[in-house]
Amino acid sequence: MKHNNGGKLGSDGDDVGSSTASKPVSVLFVCLGNICRSPMAEGVFRDLTSFGTDDQTPLIADVDSCGTGAYHAGDSPDPRTIKVLRANNITSYKHAARKVRVPEDFEEFDYVLAMDLDNLEDLKDMVARGVKRKVISAEAAEDMKKRVMLYGTFGGKSKKEEVIDPYYGGGEGFEIAFEQMQRFGKGLLEHIQEGAEKA
Ligand code: 4NP
Repeated sequence: MKHNNGGKLGSDGDDVGSSTASKPVSVLFVCLGNICRSPMAEGVFRDLTSFGTDDQTPLIADVDSCGTGAYHAGDSPDPRTIKVLRANNITSYKHAARKVRVPEDFEEFDYVLAMDLDNLEDLKDMVARGVKRKVISAEAAEDMKKRVMLYGTFGGKSKKEEVIDPYYGGGEGFEIAFEQMQRFGKGLLEHIQEGAEKA
């Protein structure tokens, strides 16, 4: 599959080459449990892009989320994630948690966006282990690792931001995460739009 990541930032903010076509891109949000942060990121980004509606931006082919762990596989998002989405008029989002699939998710998604640095490291380790298990070629792994990025890369601040895990805290952590998801989502969409304009 040919990937198109807008042509600017790699996981370390480095250049990952220019996009060659305005092919719609697919986006995967990843956290640990896939019940708090990444489904919130997915719900917000679907809303920003009107994904699945008649008004859907043609730049986006797919939006999904998953976890590096399988602890909550099959579960709905945490009620606190649902609550903050609903409070912001995102009312129709539904999701069943799942674990990241190796190598499929790394093959299918143009952007694999980690919520924090642990998630980022775990994703890169999964690619490295995939090479050892010979389910991923060394060449493909280099391309995959460039598509694995910290979501906070798109936050518009000079320092990359992590989305702190709010699971063990109170509601405030979910409010903070929501503000980040909106800002990062807008930044990501602008980045994708810029890549499409250059193509
Ligand atoms: P998430 O939060 O990674 O944002 O979905 C968590 C949810 C559950 C657990 C940890 C983090 N857990 O350990 O069960």
